[in-house]
Amino acid sequence: MKNTKVFPANPIRIQDNTLRDGHQSIYATRMKTEDMIPIAEKMDQCGFWAMEVWGGATFDTMHRFLGEDPWSRPRILKKYVKKTPFTMLLRGQNLVGYRHYADDVVRAFVDKSCEIGIDIFRCFDALNDFRNIETCVERIKANGKHVEGAVCYSLTESHLGGEIYTLDFYVAKAKELESMGADTICIKDMAGLLSPYDAYDLFTALKKEVKVPLHLHTHYTSGMGSMTYLKAIEAGVDIIDTCLAPYALRTSMPALEPIVAALKGSERDSGIDLYSLLEMSKHLEQIAPKYEHLLANQKLSIIDSEVLAHQIPGGMISNLVSQLKEMNALHRMSEIHQEIVQTRKDMGYPPLVTPSSQIIGSQAVLNVLFGRYVRISNQLKDLVLGLYGKTPVPIDKELSAKILKNYKRGQEPITCRPADLLAPEIEDAKKTIGDLAHTDEDLLAWIMFPQTMEKYLQEKYRDGATQSAS
Ligand code: CO
Repeated sequence: MKNTKVFPANPIRIQDNTLRDGHQSIYATRMKTEDMIPIAEKMDQCGFWAMEVWGGATFDTMHRFLGEDPWSRPRILKKYVKKTPFTMLLRGQNLVGYRHYADDVVRAFVDKSCEIGIDIFRCFDALNDFRNIETCVERIKANGKHVEGAVCYSLTESHLGGEIYTLDFYVAKAKELESMGADTICIKDMAGLLSPYDAYDLFTALKKEVKVPLHLHTHYTSGMGSMTYLKAIEAGVDIIDTCLAPYALRTSMPALEPIVAALKGSERDSGIDLYSLLEMSKHLEQIAPKYEHLLANQKLSIIDSEVLAHQIPGGMISNLVSQLKEMNALHRMSEIHQEIVQTRKDMGYPPLVTPSSQIIGSQAVLNVLFGRYVRISNQLKDLVLGLYGKTPVPIDKELSAKILKNYKRGQEPITCRPADLLAPEIEDAKKTIGDLAHTDEDLLAWIMFPQTMEKYLQEKYRDGATQSAS
């Protein structure tokens, strides 16, 4: 890229993910709001396209582990961040929880999120079945907010191509999101699988076919992240996600500072002032001892070469290790790696992301230990039944019949949008929770996390307080 003296016409835009995915990736989502406040105003001055501050696992950990009202963070940060839009990660019909919720819950959640200060919603579905984000998208639009449609990046082979995950696949998915009204489109590479040259081809193709701005989200997990960003930037990607250096790298995102420095003076210069970033990083270093115990540092390597070898994300491997230890079968790990590939193929090649990664991983373990599909988890049956949505490739009919034999929830896979089968939840929930919910926020949070929110609310209102202090 050639150098330009004037400010570039096409600067790379930066979304800062330090306050959500950054600490979710390296500190198990445990960063406290009080530790964000000291740098919030400075972050607002950086010229970020957006700051990701909420969604993903934050809602869960805030009330479960941090004693914070799960709705409070965007509201608090809005007092300090006046001009930079806030973005959140939304798991489609799963919202910020772990099951599909009925449409009335989804609508109420989106309305409330807009009210507390979320401006941009990154919506995705683990199976890339966009029927599962329809209700969110319609509601975000109704609130006049920004829809970012995300495609989960996955592979069938070591690189782009093969049976399913081809250039054409991603272009078609992006077009589908554009036709649903997405204001920006994100390629969400949660496991850091996207290689630099594939990124170049992918964004070159997407730029030709899609009109709305393109956003790339990758993780540093495999070690390719910064190279991938550079090639995507050369191919014309509009926005990338980074974190401040202390919360970057490892399983988190590429660091912002080297990208700012690398592009300085080029036609994609970010325009971000490197010196102002150093001060914020100093704060993150100062508070680091508080969070040190949460770092996964039992390995010397900060990258996960396993991902490069077999595309199985690190988080999934650590879950498997603990599952195998319990079953006294740790020595069978390499068989399980192979079985994961087979199980995923049998299940129609879902991307390996929550919840499909857990479903495929634990079934692969059962297959190795007890024989293929001799013991079958209920989650796998639900997947085959279509309750999570449509798999990228249809599941073999014979296998599907074998897995669903005598299953109490049904034997014939559904073809409708899964949420069409769900009855409204809010009115019933009101009756069940009774006086414990003082506000509609309490009620919604309780619907998503009944056990842990019950505890949280009892604690919150223990001294006879009547209103939420948020
Ligand atoms: Co991520």
